Amino acid sequence: MTHTILLDCDPGVDDAVALMLAAGHPDIELAGITTVAGNRPLDEVTENARRLARFLGVTAPVAAGCARPLVRTPTWSTVHGDSGLGGVEVPAEPVALDPRHGVDVIIETLLSRPVGTVTLVPIGPLTNIAMAVRKEPGITERVREVVLMGGGYHAGNRTAVAEFNILTDPEAASIVFGEPWPLTMVGLDLTWQALATPEVLARLSAVGTESARLAVAMIAPYGEAYRAHRFTAAPLHDPCAVAYVIDPTLITTRKAPITVELTGTATLGMTVADFRDPDPQCTTQVAVELDIERFWDLVVDALARLP
Ligand code: BDR
Ligand code: CA
Repeated sequence: MTHTILLDCDPGVDDAVALMLAAGHPDIELAGITTVAGNRPLDEVTENARRLARFLGVTAPVAAGCARPLVRTPTWSTVHGDSGLGGVEVPAEPVALDPRHGVDVIIETLLSRPVGTVTLVPIGPLTNIAMAVRKEPGITERVREVVLMGGGYHAGNRTAVAEFNILTDPEAASIVFGEPWPLTMVGLDLTWQALATPEVLARLSAVGTESARLAVAMIAPYGEAYRAHRFTAAPLHDPCAVAYVIDPTLITTRKAPITVELTGTATLGMTVADFRDPDPQCTTQVAVELDIERFWDLVVDALARLP
């Protein structure tokens, strides 16, 4: 079955691997790539996305979205290196930038495709998605599902309880979690299971394609940065969201209403999942457990199909 997705991203080492998984899996049709300020400023993440698109042979439009969060001042991530890709240069010229604003690409893609056929996969701050639904509220009922990487239900990484993508633009996240579209939150509880251990890196290295080599080269400094934060290996957060779209049996989920904390002094950006008394009508769910072995099989398989 083909899944049409729109990838909203801020590459980002794990964003790059998510893009590789999407580009390399035969069941994914990439309808568009939109970028958002997140791990690095907008011009840098857009340049990275354009180079990756050329390198991977992706023909979907690449459009730049919002350069700053709705309300807050951006702070960049520290684990992706100066370039956003671990200091590694993607050996390809950037594809042409789509002249449209990323928010309009999201809207136009959803309006031009049949209802219920496009899955939004945001793997950066949610600024573009929030802007799109405020500009064209009619997109809510056209989306098949929103599968996002962000948040978590028991811990954070930017603060004790807030995850980077959500804390960067909590107001946007609040808008996105508040829409009545089906939404799956692939948060830290899940993505911390997707560790690029030495065994995993050995598997990726053995694939032998240029894409696999690039992935391993980027993950190495990203892993160092995570080890400096007392991790044993680097979690590859963003590909988990793409993997869920490809094969939902890879991830177990639990239904729960989710609220984004906007006023707490110690809890700003927390995604509060309410597991009490689940309502069968609830449209949001959280990712709980990853089938680790099959997840890496999927990544390896995609890298093997790419240049
Ligand atoms: C998220 O933050 C970014 O640094 C990663 O790309 C991922 O989307 C993890 O908290
Ligand atoms: Ca990201």
